[in-house]
Amino acid sequence: MGIGFEEIEDSLVGPELDRELRELLVLCFPATTQFLEHRHFLEPPAHRWLLRDQSQLIGHVCLHRKFIGSAQGELKIGGIAEVCIHPDHRGRGLVRLMLNELHQWDKNSDFQMLFGDERVYRSSGYRTVHNPLRYFDTTHQIWDYKPLAGTMIRPANKTNWPDGPIDLRGPVF
Ligand SMILES: CC(C)(COP(=O)(O)OP(=O)(O)OC[C@H]1O[C@@H](n2cnc3c(N)ncnc32)[C@H](O)[C@@H]1OP(=O)(O)O)[C@@H](O)C(=O)NCCC(=O)NCCS
Repeated sequence: MGIGFEEIEDSLVGPELDRELRELLVLCFPATTQFLEHRHFLEPPAHRWLLRDQSQLIGHVCLHRKFIGSAQGELKIGGIAEVCIHPDHRGRGLVRLMLNELHQWDKNSDFQMLFGDERVYRSSGYRTVHNPLRYFDTTHQIWDYKPLAGTMIRPANKTNWPDGPIDLRGPVF
């Protein structure tokens, strides 16, 4: 098995990789029409990790650099998004492997944060939090304020996760 990771800045993605990424994202997120147009959901991420089996792209995760507001002051967040594994390669622990690679790299964040299913991410060190979030709802073009189901965080250093409101200062990712 020739599985390997690559890390790449999103700004350095060329046309061939862009095509490969959109193909995988459309396959894994068929309801997300944004990927028919471009390789990001709402905002372009800073970095991407690619998982390849031989030359085939079989997995992907990306990271947004975020500074979010809290009662404890500003927190540095690695915003995790577009976690996906090609259907032929699921159920083998590849999400855990891929996130572990990202965690080793993203040492400067206070926390990694994502929106997803607890059953998928718990074994990678994430836990659900229930803070009310202020965020920009791009569908209705309004700022909203409420807890969002599936908000999960992983401590990347010894900072305590704050109670109370969190200001995402932009859309969810
Ligand atoms: C979700 C997805 C990334 C999981 O990939 P995978 O390679 O099967 O995941 P892994 O084998 O690494 O499993 C990691 C954990 O997730 C759990 N898991 C995987 N798929 C699951 C599912 N559909 N429902 C519940 N738990 C699931 C596994 O049981 C495992 O838990 P454990 O570590 O506690 O044993 C993959 O199914 C996928 O790409 N789906 C489409 C895109 C998507 O929904 N991405 C998530 C967006 S939040």
